Amino acid sequence: MAEKPHQDADTLDDPGEVARRDPNGMFTLLRRWPEQWKEAAALAREARLPGGAPPGGFRHVVISGMGGSAIGGDLLRSHLADSLAVPLVVNRSYACPGFVGPDTLFVAVSYSGNTEETLASLADALHRGAEVVGVTSGGALGEECRRAGKTVLIIPRGLPPRQALGHLFLPALGLLAGLGLAPDPSAAIEETGKRMREWVRAYGPEVPARENEAKRLAASLRGRVPVVYGVQDRTDAVALRWRGQFHENSKNWASSNVLPELDHNEINAWASLSELTRRCVTLIFLEDEEDGGRMVRRREITRELIAPHVSACLSVRSSGRCRLARLFSLIVLGDFASCYLAVLNRVDPLPVPVIEDLKKALAAPSPTE
Ligand code: F6R
Repeated sequence: MAEKPHQDADTLDDPGEVARRDPNGMFTLLRRWPEQWKEAAALAREARLPGGAPPGGFRHVVISGMGGSAIGGDLLRSHLADSLAVPLVVNRSYACPGFVGPDTLFVAVSYSGNTEETLASLADALHRGAEVVGVTSGGALGEECRRAGKTVLIIPRGLPPRQALGHLFLPALGLLAGLGLAPDPSAAIEETGKRMREWVRAYGPEVPARENEAKRLAASLRGRVPVVYGVQDRTDAVALRWRGQFHENSKNWASSNVLPELDHNEINAWASLSELTRRCVTLIFLEDEEDGGRMVRRREITRELIAPHVSACLSVRSSGRCRLARLFSLIVLGDFASCYLAVLNRVDPLPVPVIEDLKKALAAPSPTE
């Protein structure tokens, strides 16, 4: 029988229990968000393409990566949705999109530098003559870029990739701004950095659940499947990030989708397993002040239609003046909530053994090779 939310809150308020469930120090890494942001902001200021853009300028940007290394690309796309000078595509594949060529800025992002899909897409981009930049803490990706005479932005080692998001996101943002493809992000980076200190304090393990939104969120999600709904070109990347963090940190099933698109398909499916989803699904709407009046109305109606089929509908609102700060207000909250959910699920939030095993199995020679 599931424990009650207040018992879960008591568990999260027990420092011994949190420490026992976090032997590899994920909460320490979460507390270091502001320091990481500061270091990454310095890297963003230095991120330059020595040769600059080709004579006619870049016609497209491709960010290629997987998992924790790809999400920075999604965030770039939604953060810059209405200001980017050229289309930006996030590529999660072994190959490049067909349009990639000499007028493409191709940013290959892999924290480890050894992710096979990203390395294959890098080779493809080089073959197509794209202008390539690598973002990595080392590994084969750095070597391949150097061998091809391409720029590599080296970021600090020693973090789980998903907890290096500041390093994986800000240098790429600085690069785009330096090339005139995106507006100067300095003021937004500064505001976000200041607010990060407040968020990390507000969600830390020493703040009791009654005052700690991250703990309360985790307590309401234990034994549930969170289904996270963001808004296209606003909080869509955050919804994806939350889903990934529930998968990787909490080892918990989760799903996500985006308004308005989900109103044209997924909404039709909720009645199908209503008895089951009423018991085990919690819907979370991510809200932002820029969502717009029609979207707010759409969300209200969507909520009314889905509410009978889920155990609860929650709303989480971003905070902060600039868009970047608001996106990261939700990201930091999701990071803490997913790690508290790991504590309640009695799993270590840091390692991802199944992902590691799969990578090892793929690296071994296949019996048919
Ligand atoms: C692990 C994580 C994973 C990795 C992914 C790709 O913390 O977040 O999703 O990011 O397996 O590996 P890298 O980032 O090294 O290219």
